[in-house]
Amino acid sequence: MTDRYAVFGNPIGHSKSPRIHAMFAAQTGQDISYEAILVDKDSFPAAVDAFIAGGEGPARGANVTVPFKEEAFRLATRRTARAEAAGAVNTLSFDAGAITGDNTDGAGLVRDLKNNLGCDPAGRRILLLGAGGAARGVILPLLLEGPAELVIANRTEETAARLALEFARLPGCAIGVKPDGLGFPGLAGRQFDLVINATSAGLSGTALPLPACVFAPRCIAYEMVYGRETPFMSQARGAGARVADGLGMLVEQAAEAFFIWRGVRPRTAPVLAALAKVP
Ligand code: ATR
Repeated sequence: MTDRYAVFGNPIGHSKSPRIHAMFAAQTGQDISYEAILVDKDSFPAAVDAFIAGGEGPARGANVTVPFKEEAFRLATRRTARAEAAGAVNTLSFDAGAITGDNTDGAGLVRDLKNNLGCDPAGRRILLLGAGGAARGVILPLLLEGPAELVIANRTEETAARLALEFARLPGCAIGVKPDGLGFPGLAGRQFDLVINATSAGLSGTALPLPACVFAPRCIAYEMVYGRETPFMSQARGAGARVADGLGMLVEQAAEAFFIWRGVRPRTAPVLAALAKVP
């Protein structure tokens, strides 16, 4: 019997996850199926139940994407520490009635930075733009890498300040630096080695009011959105930064989920190359 997996979201039509997991499975010789499931906005728990109950082989797990990550967090019967910190779940594992929720987004970002871009966050001055779900998901994994500093800057300053305080107070973590939360004007005169855009401004083609000085010499500018040149990317390029988009993070978070489910770590470079060639 083939073990079954799926990704739940809305919209889901353009999801690359089925292709990515099919490539991982072929590469590692794992017998799995993986489908994309479009879910109505108010029927996420029912859709998960139906997936677990139906089908030929056993349902082993699922990925969860926009807008259901917070609902997946609530649905999970147990959660990993990184899912707790993120307040959202993108990976579910089903086992004997239990639903374990994990969040592989932050690990995906860190692996993309370290393994694909040669950018170890350790000792770097990091600027994280945005204070919504996408930003929250990567804060703990970044802090655990031991950056020199982590500044969270957001259009709404208060949200950044609140988020920074929450992580500064996180109990039981070996975190060296405490994040700071600012509004964009607070970035005047500041410099960073790694600038990560976790706002959704790129999706609407909006530029962020960033002073050019934030991009230090040899800075890496990381846009979490992929598949388009956002104003942030153009801005960073103009300031001399090396620019990356979020395709690597997408593939790496998928690899981390595949590892959780199958106990095998797929090679991501060939998958990333295949996706970059055929968008
Ligand atoms: P996500 O889950 O993608 O993070 P979200 O929780 O709605 O989505 O958060 C969106 C983030 O992008 C927020 O940090 C938001 O800033 P505010 O907290 O001020 O709303 C940021 N954002 C969205 N559009 C923006 C824009 N045009 N300029 C600057 N920041 C923007």
